[in-house]
Amino acid sequence: MSYDKFTDTIRQNHEQAIEEVTRGRQFDAWIKGSSRTSIRGERFETKDPATEKTITTVPRCQEEDVDKAVEAAKKAFNQTWGSLPVDERSEALLDWVETLRANSEELALLESLDTGKPLADAEYEVSEAINYIEYYAQIARGEQGDQLPIGDDTHAFTKHEPYGVAGLIVPWNYPLLLASWKLGPALSAGNTVVLKPAEDSPLSVTRIAQLSEDVLPPGTLNIVHGFGDEAGAPLTRHEDISKLSFTGEGQTGETIMKAAAEQITPVTLELGGKSPFIVFPDADLENAAEIAAEGIFYNTGQSCDAFSRTLVHEDIHAEFLELFRAEAEERIVGDPLAKETTTGPLASKQQFEKVREYIEIGKKEGAALVHGGESISITDSDDGWFVEPTIFDGVENDMRIAQEEIFGPVASVIQFADYNEAVSIANDIDFGLAAGVATTDLSIAHRASDDIQAGTVWVNQYADLVPGTPFGGFKRSGIGRECAKDTLREYQQTKTVNISLGQMD
Ligand code: NAI
Ligand code: MG
Repeated sequence: MSYDKFTDTIRQNHEQAIEEVTRGRQFDAWIKGSSRTSIRGERFETKDPATEKTITTVPRCQEEDVDKAVEAAKKAFNQTWGSLPVDERSEALLDWVETLRANSEELALLESLDTGKPLADAEYEVSEAINYIEYYAQIARGEQGDQLPIGDDTHAFTKHEPYGVAGLIVPWNYPLLLASWKLGPALSAGNTVVLKPAEDSPLSVTRIAQLSEDVLPPGTLNIVHGFGDEAGAPLTRHEDISKLSFTGEGQTGETIMKAAAEQITPVTLELGGKSPFIVFPDADLENAAEIAAEGIFYNTGQSCDAFSRTLVHEDIHAEFLELFRAEAEERIVGDPLAKETTTGPLASKQQFEKVREYIEIGKKEGAALVHGGESISITDSDDGWFVEPTIFDGVENDMRIAQEEIFGPVASVIQFADYNEAVSIANDIDFGLAAGVATTDLSIAHRASDDIQAGTVWVNQYADLVPGTPFGGFKRSGIGRECAKDTLREYQQTKTVNISLGQMD
């Protein structure tokens, strides 16, 4: 493993990069097509996880700011966006997409600085985020209702109409990408939006809102910054919000669903997981080790679908473990702005502490720490929230490190003796977001895909998500599917029209 030392040059590079993305720019709330501070005027800082330096501040919005944003969104829904013909909506969104593409380098740099993710990953994710918005803008045009054969006397058909104002709440692990999964379908379907980004990563979505200034009618897209209880909760209980979509922690999802129940507001929830990656004895082990490593170390393990449980057949366990360790060894932990870096810091101090705590829990539970496990001081002054890629072997599925979402670069290796045991361990969990299978046997691939309770099963690969591929959870991992063609429907309500054709004289 090689660690870039945070020399003065690296530190200066970050200062320069921060200066570049913030110079002459305010990162405010975005309401009714322009920048707004919060009514109380309070702000909070967002930090660069690699250096712990403040990047800039954003408004600390409260209920009264949320009210303003919802009011603007409601007005835009009633007066402009909600009644635009679909082709005009689509065209406006495609204009926005073009503007975003022209600014994607800046967006990627902002995303990398704000979250600590390697710049190359941020570039990929920003370009994917834009692709998702484009995809929904395009397919909205193919929108069709049904004709219903209910008899000769009635002409019956369906129409799919937007709900009105959608409240969207997103986390910090993929700030722009996860926002795009909601913004794309919500706006394309004709809703207006109030989006609350996570308090740890407010910058990229602020920029895309600013970049919508000349293309989306004021009030179509609104952003409020702030903390979950102060700015998130008022959005979830607002009487003019007609649709909610949330990605984040299970407990928060539960709270949001309860708030939504008060108004019978439909909710889409994406709530994380503890995905198993099953390595069968016939697998190509080198390939499997690569997938296992990418599956848990990409984005420093802060992915809802991360392969955080590695289930390995006992006959190939020793050989696989060596290959897996070698992959972990090859991860380059370091400066997110450096080209060669594959693993950045954790996105926040809170997450850093949580991950370190789980590593201690794993040791106490009796798992064998076979790789990593240390927080790394890659700076001379101990800055940055870096943790080594970590592998625990000898994990039992009922240990806390196997059951709870750590959300860090920590893999738990669990052995199994046969197919049935593998599937039973895979399913013995409250989550059901995703799973992986490594095998060269087609029938095992199909059987396991049938037997595993998860919204996505990857066979011999990890995370090739493209627009149009449904993504979402079984069990406590959530409700609804994102990224799919049908996701447009989650932001629409169906109206049936029955027209009597009889009794004309
Ligand atoms: P969180 O679920 O509390 O936060 C996600 C978003 O929800 C943020 O924008 C936050 O401000 C907002 N929020 C929080 N409480 C709210 C409330 N009562 N009403 C409305 N909005 C609210 O997640 P957090 O605290 O950032 O991370 C804690 C853990 O959750 C992580 O360690 C990880 O295990 C898990 N997580 C899972 C994610 C996933 O993709 N499934 C994403 C982020 C976190
Ligand atoms: Mg929270």
